[in-house]
Amino acid sequence: MINIIEMENLYYRYRDGTEALRDLSLFIPQGKKVAILGPNGAGKSTLLLHLNGLYLPQKGKVRVLGREINSRTERWVKSKVGLVFQDPDDQVFSATVKEDVAFGPLNMNLPEPEVQRRVSNALQAVQMEEYSSKPPYYLSHGQKKRVAIAGVLAMQPAVILLDEPTSYLDPKSKITLIKTLTQLHRQGTTIVIATHDVDLAAEWADHIIIIKEGQTLAQGETWLLTREDLIEEAGLCFPTVVQIFRQLPDIKKNYLPLNVNEAVTVLKTIINSKNR
Ligand SMILES: Nc1ncnc2c1ncn2[C@@H]1O[C@H](COP(=O)(O)OP(=O)(O)OP(=O)(O)O)[C@@H](O)[C@H]1O
Ligand SMILES: [Mg+2]
Repeated sequence: MINIIEMENLYYRYRDGTEALRDLSLFIPQGKKVAILGPNGAGKSTLLLHLNGLYLPQKGKVRVLGREINSRTERWVKSKVGLVFQDPDDQVFSATVKEDVAFGPLNMNLPEPEVQRRVSNALQAVQMEEYSSKPPYYLSHGQKKRVAIAGVLAMQPAVILLDEPTSYLDPKSKITLIKTLTQLHRQGTTIVIATHDVDLAAEWADHIIIIKEGQTLAQGETWLLTREDLIEEAGLCFPTVVQIFRQLPDIKKNYLPLNVNEAVTVLKTIINSKNR
């Protein structure tokens, strides 16, 4: 398996002295659905800002597709790695929704018909076509978030990073977004989300990275979310399905289901064996 992104011993200190990243190392395997988990202030947003060259390392290295990010490669990196910010007010600023989504593709010097095609597809993916001529200023926060996501989709990067993508989204928009991300993943895009939503990670991700106080605590498959020591140390909580199954008798603690589909399979097996 190839790592599309590698971070080695990264250190980042804000001007006021806050050490947000402290010797952090991690890797993002190509073609995976990755969730970076950690409590408030763990350093998730700071680390995402390093993955597409918006912040350059003060110490340590970040490599994307084998190339080190520095002042010479940051423009190239931005075309390969798209970042949806935690707060859409930091990202959405054009006069109309369609101009905002066209901003990235136009900067890539794509021909006009291709830009229009991408804008229309991206707005469709987040179900915001009918708002295309509206000023983003008048949109709700969740709608703005969807426009910000469309702006990154329109650039068709190899890696898409989303910082707390489901905050402000209503349940239906959340499901639509997850479907869109899964579809992009099937087309070969590596998707990375930063979140403290352990249920979302358990449902959607196939690789998780847990960070705490600017360092990587653990990374690997989603079953890590059933490990009590890790969850406690990370200041997170178990996914809801895990919480339920941990309280049931006769369930092997090392075979806990993580998400709704797995829970249904386990329950069907139990019901079938009782009916026999
Ligand atoms: N511009 C800034 N100046 C000073 N300190 C900052 C700045 N931005 C973030 N920090 C600090 O850096 C640390 C990491 O913050 P960061 O926003 O990366 O965390 P996070 O994991 O994304 O948190 P959240 O879950 O709340 O989004 C925190 O202690 C935060 O207070
Ligand atoms: Mg954050």
